[in-house]
Parts: sequence; C-alpha cells; structure tokens
Amino acid sequence: MSRLRDRFGSEVDRLLHDFSSSLELDLEIADEDLEASLAHAAMLAETGIITSEDGEALARGLQQIREELAEGAWQPGPEHEDIHMAVEARLVELVGDAGRRLHTARSRNDQVATDVRLWLKRRLAEIEESLIELIGVLLDRVSSNGRTLIPGYTHLQRAQPILLGHHLLAHAWALSRDLERFAGAVRRTDRSPLGACALAGTPHPVDRTSTAERLGFDGVVENAMDAVAARDHLQEAAACCAICMARLSQMAEELVLWSSAEFRMVRMGEGFATSSSIMPQKANPDGAELVRGKAGGVFADLQTLLILTKGLPLAYNRDLQEDRPPLYHAIFQTLGSVRLMAAMWRALEVDADRFENELSGDLSLATELADHLVEQGVPFRDAHEVVARLVHWCEERGGNLAVADGGAARQFHPLLPDDLGPWLDPRAAVERRTTRGGTAWTEVERQVALLRKVV
Ligand code: ARG
Repeated sequence: MSRLRDRFGSEVDRLLHDFSSSLELDLEIADEDLEASLAHAAMLAETGIITSEDGEALARGLQQIREELAEGAWQPGPEHEDIHMAVEARLVELVGDAGRRLHTARSRNDQVATDVRLWLKRRLAEIEESLIELIGVLLDRVSSNGRTLIPGYTHLQRAQPILLGHHLLAHAWALSRDLERFAGAVRRTDRSPLGACALAGTPHPVDRTSTAERLGFDGVVENAMDAVAARDHLQEAAACCAICMARLSQMAEELVLWSSAEFRMVRMGEGFATSSSIMPQKANPDGAELVRGKAGGVFADLQTLLILTKGLPLAYNRDLQEDRPPLYHAIFQTLGSVRLMAAMWRALEVDADRFENELSGDLSLATELADHLVEQGVPFRDAHEVVARLVHWCEERGGNLAVADGGAARQFHPLLPDDLGPWLDPRAAVERRTTRGGTAWTEVERQVALLRKVV
C-alpha cells in the first residue's frame, strides 16, 4: 500500500508513488537523518515546544531505529516515499503518540537539506584526507626519485631536461590548491538549515543555534528560504571534484604514457597492472585509464547539478531530489580516484637511469647554447637563430648536439666554444636553473619543505 497521499488523503497512483520515491537515494543519508532528528527532538524538549517526556521517548525511539538500521534489523519499506516518512512511521510504532510530535516546527525541506549538508561535510573531509595522503606520497617520491632526469615536454615534444621531482611538484602544488578549494567548499557547506521549516520559518520558538551546535555545524543558514532552496554548496563540491578530476586525469595519462614501451620511464607497481586474456606479455595500467575515463562523468555531474537549479523558482521544488545521484557520483568517483592515484604512485617503479644517457647532448639542450651566447652579450633573438641553424646541421648528422663538439660549432658563431661538454650535460643544465621555481635540486628541495608545511 502506498503511504503517499494526495491532499484529500486518497492514495496517489502507484505510478507516481514509484516514480517519486527517493528511498533508495535516502539510504545513503539515513544515519544523518536520524542524527538530525535526534538534535531536533532534543531542541523541541529544551525549548518547551514538546514535553520532556515526549523528548525522551523520541530520543529513545530514534536511537533504537539508528541501531536497528545499523544492524539491518529494520529497513524502510517501499510503501514509504522517503526516509523521513519511513523513520516517522517506525517511530510511532516504537514510542506511540510522541512520535507524531517529532515533525513539529520542521519540514522535510529543511530536513533533507540538513541531512545532505551533514553527509557532504563528512565526505568532503574524506576527500581532503585522501588528497593530503596523495600529496604526501608524491613528496615522498620526490625525496626518493626526485633527482631522476627526465625530458620536460611542451606540445609533447621534448623541450628541456628536468628533474622528475620538478615534474611531481607541479602536480603536488596543483593538488594543494584542490585541497584549498575543498576546504572552502566545506566552510560554505558547514551551516545548518534546520529550523527553516518549509520556507518561512515557524511560529514555534525553535532554537536553531542549539540544533546547529548539536550537529556540529559552524552556524546556521540565515534565511529560511535560502536554507531549503540552495544547492550551490553541492555545485561547489562538484566543481571542486571536477577540477580535481581534471588534474588526476592528467596524472593518469602520464602513467599510461610513461609505462608504455616507448617511454619506459615507469612500471606499474605490484598489484596495479592487469594482464591481458590473450597477450601474455601485457601489464596494463587499467587503474590509470579508469581515472582518466571517470573524469568525464564527474564533469557531467557538475553540469547536471548546475542545470538542476537553472531557472528554478524559489523555494523548494521536487526537482531538487534529483541532486543526489550526481552528487554521490561526483564525490565517490573523486574519492576513489584520489585514493587509487595515491596507491598507484606509492607502488610505482621508476627507472632512474632511463634518460641519463639519452639526454646527454640531446637537442633539448639547444637552449643552453643560446643562453651561453646571451651571457656573452649576443642578443637572444640572434643567439636563437644561430643555434637553430646549428641544430639543423646536427639533425642532418644524426640528431645529437655532440656532433658539433670539438670545434664544429664555431662555424655558426665565433663565441661558441670548441668544448661543448658543459652545455651538453643535461644534469648541468638542470642545476643551472636555480631561480625560484626552477628545476634545480635545491629549488625542488625548497618546494618540498614548503609543501610539507601545508600537508
Ligand atoms: N524526498 C525529498 C527530497 O529528497 C524530501 C523533501 C520532500 N519535500 C516535499 N515537500 N515533498 O528532496
């Protein structure tokens, strides 16, 4: 039997009942719902809106439902439209008439808004924790493998040699901004809507501060209409997730590229590569591919949440019930991705020598020669042209700058030395870049120390 009734008390059509049920979605916020009801009941008794006996009966009943739910001894039945109605019905079964007083000075509108804020705060804290872990793993990697020489790319063309530490720090800094963004989202989520009722407040003397404090909120949402209608904290959370996933998808793509035979820079660690059902040699970076793939879904979640409130008149509209699937999806996919990325990086094997020889005299050191001319007074544009011609000449002879060593370079400019050695050494090139933010090891170490203070 459907408990959903139209305004005259007749049962609504089964089709509408099933269509509008949020019960399944509500299971995720069931514990928060009970917590919020406990706080509300305590406040009702405290302010004398209900008697203390009724307050005690409600607390006892709600506590029991919480335990029953945790143990699986009670489950909201499909005849209920949502968790709020199901809990109330169970409460009346358990404590009788007192249960019928719980909904005094409350509406499902402020109730669901409160539940979701409580839930979101907790999940955001979990994402923050996992981001701190990921940044920590990357910083550990910088300490252990940070001096590994790798090509730095622009346009995926070799640009200049850099340290792996420099590269990892670029991600770590970006992730630290993600962390900041999530912290901002938490601050704006951390306000209690409870006591706003349907949209206009209530004639009963509720104490909103007391329920907010009981529930651990940092304050209340000041305006009752705003309290029940606002979903921008969900949109902000999803935006934070989307930005974070954009970053993770880049990191994932690098793992895919770097573990390929063409790059051979890393091997997916023990337990993080999967085999092929047909090709025995395969060690596939599925985890990284999935993080890359899941990012798109999270971007879509943000879109869905934005479109949900677009043009929606105030205050509560049933459309808002549709906020949870994209919210849950964005949060859980992001949480899973951050955690997996940390685990993959912890287990990753880095080939520390892979580029040591290959980068010696590599064309990506051409800028060194140009900069050397500049240091001797040659305008950079001229130096650039000279070295471009030299590079072309080297390319025709095998593509390494070393072929111009021992005097050949001088035909391109009299100020180019016979001995190109110091300019063809990638490690020397890296260590010359000691400017703030440069790839030199001292700079890498300085940044690690800075970031360690954040995480
Ligand atoms: N199940 C609803 C939701 O999730 C709860 C609020 C319903 N409010 C109402 N007036 N029908 O949004």
